[in-house]
Amino acid sequence: MVKPFQFARVPRIIFKPGSVGSLPDLIKPYGSRIALITGRNSFLRSTQGQNLVTQLSKSKIEYNLISIQGEPSPEDIDSAVQLLKSEDIELVVGIGGGSVIDAGKAISAMLSRSESIVRFLEGVGDLEHPGTKVPFFAIPTTSGTGSEATKNAVISKVGTDGFKKSLRHDNFVPDLALVDPDLTVNCPPDITAASGMDCFTQLAEAYLSDKSSEYTDALAMEGLKAIERSLTRCCSDGQDAEARAGMSFAALTSGICLANAGLGVVHGFASSVGGMYNIPHGLVCGTLMAKTNEINVRELRKMPASMRALNKYSLLGQLFLDEKGKSDDYYIDGFISYLHKLTAALGLPGLKKYCISDDHISAICAITENKNNPVKLTIDDLHEILSSRCI
Ligand SMILES: [Fe+2]
Repeated sequence: MVKPFQFARVPRIIFKPGSVGSLPDLIKPYGSRIALITGRNSFLRSTQGQNLVTQLSKSKIEYNLISIQGEPSPEDIDSAVQLLKSEDIELVVGIGGGSVIDAGKAISAMLSRSESIVRFLEGVGDLEHPGTKVPFFAIPTTSGTGSEATKNAVISKVGTDGFKKSLRHDNFVPDLALVDPDLTVNCPPDITAASGMDCFTQLAEAYLSDKSSEYTDALAMEGLKAIERSLTRCCSDGQDAEARAGMSFAALTSGICLANAGLGVVHGFASSVGGMYNIPHGLVCGTLMAKTNEINVRELRKMPASMRALNKYSLLGQLFLDEKGKSDDYYIDGFISYLHKLTAALGLPGLKKYCISDDHISAICAITENKNNPVKLTIDDLHEILSSRCI
């Protein structure tokens, strides 16, 4: 029998290599004054970016440029909104990595408000956002967070009183996710690896989630097949267009899956570690993925009612090991071993260089959520995971 489920709205999606060239035509129905949000390594400096600027000018589309450095803080969003407020912006377009997409999503939501964004953030704010916004297009240039398909924007304040919290509303799903895999070919290898592991984690956590459904499982499995075909290829040859397209598909799909099935302990750590230390999200996820799944499996094997999750781990092993006729335990252990080898092969660093102290490990574990993990991990389990990667 099909398990009951709900499925949230998704953006209009255009998935096509070269599709960024159609952006001016896609903008026109919304108006001629846009806010263009980009990142530190601005897309606009690339050949594709220069072509876009020329096309916008020919199409008489005026843009105000906002550059976001790293993961967006409340101050980044508030100051961008102040700059844009008097410009009669008709559409916000975010072109960049997950941080840029999140920033664009948040700016589009805050242009109609006078308060600081902090007041609307989950867990730290005191107001509910009514969902009013300026229309928003998301155009990813990395394959990672899947933010182009989700209704939340992650906003970070780093420090001992830091946080990573979401601005969230059903209306904040982008009006358009324009996924052009060609935009990711210049993404450097370290970012390709870290963001690719974030995407892999999101698909695996959504697939294993206690909130997953047949519907999200079907999508997650297609995304995971794309990861299996594409992740290591992309990291060894960034110009491999087929592999880049596979990772763009996986990232988009991971956003849809996480929005509907939730995430697990790795993303619990991404919030707690990310709030205290300025470490890229993808790197936290990538470096913790193998050990977390190893502990998940160990704890699931102690539980009599864990067959559903362990069966899924076996299916993951069958997908990634490409060996036929083995036992479930063989595939489960093989999948964990595959993740450890992948972590090493991609050169994902441990967290020691970010100077996470022993005191902080305990403090981080105390606030780390299990989210929709297939098994509830204890503080000791969390401590074991984080300590093992503080190398
Ligand atoms: Fe993530």
